[in-house]
Parts: sequence; structure tokens; C-alpha cells
Amino acid sequence: MKSIIIYESTHHENTKKLVDAIVKKHNVETASIENAESIDLPGYDTIGLAAGIAFGKFYKRMEEFAAKIPSGSRVFLLYTCGNPSGGYVKSITRTLESNDVKVMGTYGCRGYDTYGPFKLVGGIAKGHPTEEEIYGAVSFYDKISRGE
Ligand SMILES: Cc1cc2nc3c(=O)[nH]c(=O)nc-3n(C[C@H](O)[C@H](O)[C@H](O)COP(=O)(O)O)c2cc1C
Repeated sequence: MKSIIIYESTHHENTKKLVDAIVKKHNVETASIENAESIDLPGYDTIGLAAGIAFGKFYKRMEEFAAKIPSGSRVFLLYTCGNPSGGYVKSITRTLESNDVKVMGTYGCRGYDTYGPFKLVGGIAKGHPTEEEIYGAVSFYDKISRGE
């Protein structure tokens, strides 16, 4: 299975930790969102989109990139967020599914967040993603790679 994860992890590289752990165990290519335009997406069996959450959605650049994924692709989603209130994949999933892109699964966990007022209190979700959460991302990808 040829697989690539495209990531945008600009706040504290929290999401990148999940990606790096997956890459350590699996034969997966990676590319940052800056280099995503040049990727031959139809050449991959699965495409991972990995990003932090801002204002209730995947980072804007990733949300926009999702609209360019070719119909018929198989995509999985990875994210980290300060406050896991849910609903963060709604927008990107809608974009993907409206283009007949299959969303195979989603993994999300908390990530250290010092945005705006949280900075004043030393941030929230300090210490996240934890080892356990990172391991959770690897287990999630194990299943994706087995087609489960
Ligand atoms: C501009 C901005 C907006 C954010 N908005 C949210 C949000 O709506 N919900 C949330 O749970 N976390 C929010 N966060 C926290 C990040 O999603 C979280 O820290 C994430 O782990 C950052 O991932 P990264 O280090 O991979 O970029 C926001 C962070 C920033 C910088």
C-alpha cells in the first residue's frame, strides 16, 4: 500500500509527533502542506491529512487543500486540539465527501495549546500529546494499513 501523510503542524508541532511516530513504524511518505501542491495524489492508495485545529476546524490551508483531493481517493484524518469538544472533522469531511473522496477514519487527541488567552495561564493541554496518545495514533494507522 502506497501511503502519504500531508501535515500542517505550526503551533507546537503537536500533530507532527503523531505523524513521526507512524512513520517510525510504517513505510509512509510525508510532506508538509507547503509542498503538497506538487504531489501526484492519484499515485497513492491512501492519503493522510494531519493538522492542528483552529477555530473549530482543521487549519485553513489544510481545509482548502482537502478540496483539491481527486475523487475516488481514500483519505484518513489526524488532528490535535486544545479542547476535545468534538465536531472538528465535520467541515473537512463534508468537503471530501462532496467530492466522492472516501474518509476511512479519524484519529484526534489533545495537543499543547497556548493560543490567545490560554497563553496567560501557561497554556492548556500541557504535556499532550502524551506517549499513550501518540501510541493511539500508531494503532489507528495500523488498522488503516490493514484496511480495517
Ligand atoms: C489560532 C489557533 C486557534 C485554535 N483554535 C482551537 C479550537 O478551536 N479548538 C481547539 O480545541 N484547539 C484550538 N487551538 C489549539 C490547537 O489546535 C492545538 O494546540 C493543536 O495541538 C496545535 O497543533 P500543532 O502543534 O500541530 O499545530 C487553536 C490554536 C491556534 C494557534
